[in-house]
Amino acid sequence: MYRTLALLAAVSSLSGAPLSREGEKCAPCHPQAAWESDNPMALTLRPAVVSGWLPPGRALVVERDGYHYEMANDGKDVRYRVRDDKSAFEVTLKWAFGTGHSGQTYVYEHQGDLYESRVSYYPRIEGLDLTLGAANEAPSSLPEAAGRRMSAGDVRECFGCHSSHGYRDGGGFDLEAMTPGIRCAHCHSGADEHARNAALGKLTPPANPARNSSSEDILNFCGTCHRTWADVVMMGIKGVNTVRFQPYRLSLSQCYSPMDPRLNCVQCHDPHRAVESDAKAYDRACLACHRPGEQALCKVATDGCVDCHMPKTELPGAHFAFRDHYIRVHRDDQAFPD
Ligand code: HEC
Ligand code: HEC
Ligand code: HEC
Ligand code: HEC
Ligand code: HEC
Ligand code: HEC
Ligand code: HEC
Repeated sequence: MYRTLALLAAVSSLSGAPLSREGEKCAPCHPQAAWESDNPMALTLRPAVVSGWLPPGRALVVERDGYHYEMANDGKDVRYRVRDDKSAFEVTLKWAFGTGHSGQTYVYEHQGDLYESRVSYYPRIEGLDLTLGAANEAPSSLPEAAGRRMSAGDVRECFGCHSSHGYRDGGGFDLEAMTPGIRCAHCHSGADEHARNAALGKLTPPANPARNSSSEDILNFCGTCHRTWADVVMMGIKGVNTVRFQPYRLSLSQCYSPMDPRLNCVQCHDPHRAVESDAKAYDRACLACHRPGEQALCKVATDGCVDCHMPKTELPGAHFAFRDHYIRVHRDDQAFPD
């Protein structure tokens, strides 16, 4: 406990922003809190200096479109340097978006605005490459080669999905007030009041997104960030680029029915823990319906269902293969359905 606090204090003084463990308030009564320190959703936004992938002493370099990129952690800051043959640009990286399970993108401040780094870290290649989407635009100047300026809307959206407590009435976003990462109260509104009252012996339960909720309600809840059918249609994204939008993909499956409680996000995922990587652990969810006397049984195999019916699917440019949550018989000669 004391070590944790000392570490947190050290981190805040390095970055100017606290690395909060709000779950400590809940820990005396709920085991979920103990898992917060390695829950990917809680760690999805961190000060760049403790990003996990740019440890002190490590320097990463890459050349793209005639520019030389370098990120180096000197123990105090992560410095980001971009140069061409004429000039150089240098800045301190402030925030790391993404745990880095699939990839990590950095945000820095320059002349009063926030920018998204044009290169990101990808664990599969153990190095830097273009940020997803950046390949489509050739930079015309050094500042453009370094990153993309974020509008007020971008700031609200990116931080809105990757942090907690920042939203303000009227649609604004307060960077000073936000807590990095998705914290208990982001999914359980009323949790802070509940914790205070519970300590006094008074029970005012916070929201529980799965209580009295249909599968559709749960997909919509997780879909506020992971994106629903309606979001994907509105964004106009098609083809394999939709593979990372699990609520959308799952809702295309014949297996899925909005009112059947046996198939939704929390039947397969405990949102308080890192994702389970053993394919066989998910068989139970399929066998809830595919059992004698109900839905069809598989003629090909009796376990490891997700490896064939929700296969890992490469997302171009992401250096990562996402599970396709559209459950179906996959055929090699079939175009990717959306
Ligand atoms: C002093 C003990 C205590 C503390 C501290 C506490 N809780 Fe609870 N919490 C309870 C009790 C008791 C219940 C009711 C348990 C039950 O109904 O099984 C509960 C229920 C809940 C539920 C379930 C609500 C439902 O309807 O299913 C959630 C979610 C929850 N707490 C979240 C939190 C969070 C988040 C925190 C920290 C911000 C927190 N609690 C702090 C005692 C506590
Ligand atoms: C406030 C936004 C938000 C909400 C709401 C949300 N998620 Fe997430 N979730 C994220 C982000 C951001 C990540 C990426 C974490 C990272 O950086 O790797 C993530 C990652 C995950 C992962 C992958 C974890 C891993 O180990 O890599 C799972 C599984 C997941 N979410 C399930 C859910 C489920 C189930 C719900 C609904 C109960 C939900 N999420 C609701 C934002 C959200
Ligand atoms: C609607 C909510 C939402 C918005 C807006 C959003 N993200 Fe995310 N982000 C997510 C979710 C959910 C994941 C997890 C994806 C997964 O694992 O399926 C994620 C994952 C990531 C990752 C991990 C790598 C990857 O591509 O999976 C990075 C980096 C990231 N987001 C950066 C950003 C940045 C920068 C912005 C603003 C330009 C942004 N996000 C806006 C929800 C959002
Ligand atoms: C990404 C959203 C998300 C976050 C963040 C989150 N929870 Fe939950 N929590 C849920 C959902 C969804 C359920 C219902 C799960 C179910 O019924 O399977 C739940 C259920 C619970 C319950 C009731 C469990 C039970 O078995 O009845 C408690 C207690 C709880 N959460 C505490 C916490 C605490 C403490 C934190 C912070 C450390 C936290 N949650 C963070 C989504 C979240
Ligand atoms: C039938 C089981 C099942 C259901 C239902 C399900 N998932 Fe998954 N999900 C998986 C499996 C399997 C993986 C891959 C685990 C691994 O190999 O790391 C996964 C991975 C993920 C990941 C990590 C990114 C990736 O593709 O590896 C996220 C985020 C996620 N699921 C979110 C969701 C959300 C949100 C929902 C609700 C719409 C949902 N899942 C419903 C089985 C399921
Ligand atoms: C809520 C019940 C339910 C669950 C849970 C469920 N399914 Fe299904 N599944 C169905 C129904 C209903 C159909 C459509 C049957 C029909 O039309 O004859 C179906 C159809 C299928 C099909 C055939 C689809 C096609 O493309 O022809 C496959 C394959 C399948 N399920 C695999 C799975 C796997 C694998 C899982 C677990 C990841 C799973 N199902 C979970 C109800 C379910
Ligand atoms: C090794 C890959 C593999 C695994 C593992 C696997 N399946 Fe299949 N499954 C297939 C293939 C291929 C087909 C299509 C067979 C055909 O049409 O000839 C299929 C067909 C199906 C069908 C459609 C049956 C019908 O008659 O319409 C269902 C339902 C199904 N699988 C469910 C499951 C479930 C549930 C599991 C886990 C218990 C599972 N599968 C495991 C490859 C697999």
